[in-house]
Amino acid sequence: MKVTVLIVCLFSTSLADDPINTRYFPKDFKFGVANAATQIEGGWNEDGKGETIWDYWAHNYPEKIADRSTPDIACDSYHKYKEDVALVKAMGLDYYRLSIAWSRILPTGHPDKINQAGVRYYKNLFAELKEAEVEPMVTLYHWDLPQPLQDEYGGWLNETVVNLFAEYAKICFELFQDDVKMWITINEPKQVCHDGYGTGGAAPGVVSNGVGEYVCAKNILLAHAKAYHVYDDEFRAKNQGRIAMVIDTTWYEPGSDSEEDQEASERIVQFMLGLYGNPIFNGNWPQVVINRVALRSEQEGFATSRLPVLTDEEIAYIKGTYDYLALNHYSTYMVNATAEPAIGDPNFGTDTNVVAWRPPDWPSGSGSWIAIVPWGLRHLLVWLKKTYGNQEIVITENGLSDNTGTLEDDDRISYYQGYLSACLDAIYEDGVNLTTYTAWSIIDDWEWGAGYTSFLGMYRVNFTDPERTRTPRKSAAWFTNMVKTRCLVDTCTE
Ligand code: NOJ
Repeated sequence: MKVTVLIVCLFSTSLADDPINTRYFPKDFKFGVANAATQIEGGWNEDGKGETIWDYWAHNYPEKIADRSTPDIACDSYHKYKEDVALVKAMGLDYYRLSIAWSRILPTGHPDKINQAGVRYYKNLFAELKEAEVEPMVTLYHWDLPQPLQDEYGGWLNETVVNLFAEYAKICFELFQDDVKMWITINEPKQVCHDGYGTGGAAPGVVSNGVGEYVCAKNILLAHAKAYHVYDDEFRAKNQGRIAMVIDTTWYEPGSDSEEDQEASERIVQFMLGLYGNPIFNGNWPQVVINRVALRSEQEGFATSRLPVLTDEEIAYIKGTYDYLALNHYSTYMVNATAEPAIGDPNFGTDTNVVAWRPPDWPSGSGSWIAIVPWGLRHLLVWLKKTYGNQEIVITENGLSDNTGTLEDDDRISYYQGYLSACLDAIYEDGVNLTTYTAWSIIDDWEWGAGYTSFLGMYRVNFTDPERTRTPRKSAAWFTNMVKTRCLVDTCTE
């Protein structure tokens, strides 16, 4: 996310010494790991799968990917899924979060022809998980729009895609209703819209900063809501499952006690997460986002706000479309208010009007974009409780990247230990209704624009070996033991 980022040395916040919580995780607390189709499956055009916007992006714009790689083979999980499931089982995890590739089920994105080989792949995967007594948690859309829908309609800028997504979702509910009970409609809409239709830094690369991304936000919310209602009306009674959209944000801690900086923190979190969370949990866009975009739009000479209106009917349709709150979170910035930026081209960053920065002594993984700031997660969880009510919260992603791929990944262990400790603090000290924690990830993957240069797996994948061998890192044993003992230190108390 491109807010202005400065690294300054104003003051430092001590992190490393936060004490690790010594309570046990509650007995019914669940642990899992997450992955996504594009990042691990490979088999990009195998057995009838259609092309996605990420296949197209990597094939046609190799310079956009750090190592000019493609997701063509990735971890080869299309062929090695049994091995992945065995690793999940060996770690003693309750569930495995994975995504279905829209274009493996519907190669053109349209509901005219179901690709039976694609259906078989997921059926086999679900059967393997059942055998291993591991529950699937299934994302329907993890950024992999079928390329024809981008070519024909302009992707998420066109409302037609709202209906097509709902039809695809319905097909999945029908096909997999005996296999799946935990559903996710869409993963991280902020990245889809801001990077894909705002800055254009990610597939499909549409540059429409401060304009397209808000149109995308509206359509993606409607798509999520439509899929939710289809589930609610036609499948819930029989499937007895649950469904939500994954929202995400970095935490932005006020850079000082001043009112301006407190407001800057609230404002940026509302732009990053509230843009998607508020319509679902409270109804309508966050007021501060409505006000800021209207103000800037007017000064820029727009006749109406760049933020599309949600009608009363749309507000009512989107509000309440959740069975739980699904959250991805990785790291934290400090944030200060700034003077109003000069009027120029529309821009999401100037709409937010903050400066974000990190004290230089915050630890991070080697070469990582992720600073290790466990208390940031706790502050975010408390913010969510305050802002959306005491919803059940499911952490659907959290983890540390590094660019070395080392097997001796002590940083990753201290990341997990610190963030899981922050979860315990939130549960026991703040009364947050957090029930589930998902690590990203069990195996290395194709990290979108970072290709195969950023590693987040507890197992290393050798991407130059045709076998794509998986080798445990130190963190795999640590995490396995943590799941078994439900405790972050040597001895825990109830
Ligand atoms: C969030 C995304 O959902 C996931 O696809 C990605 O790999 C992780 N962040 C780590 O970068």
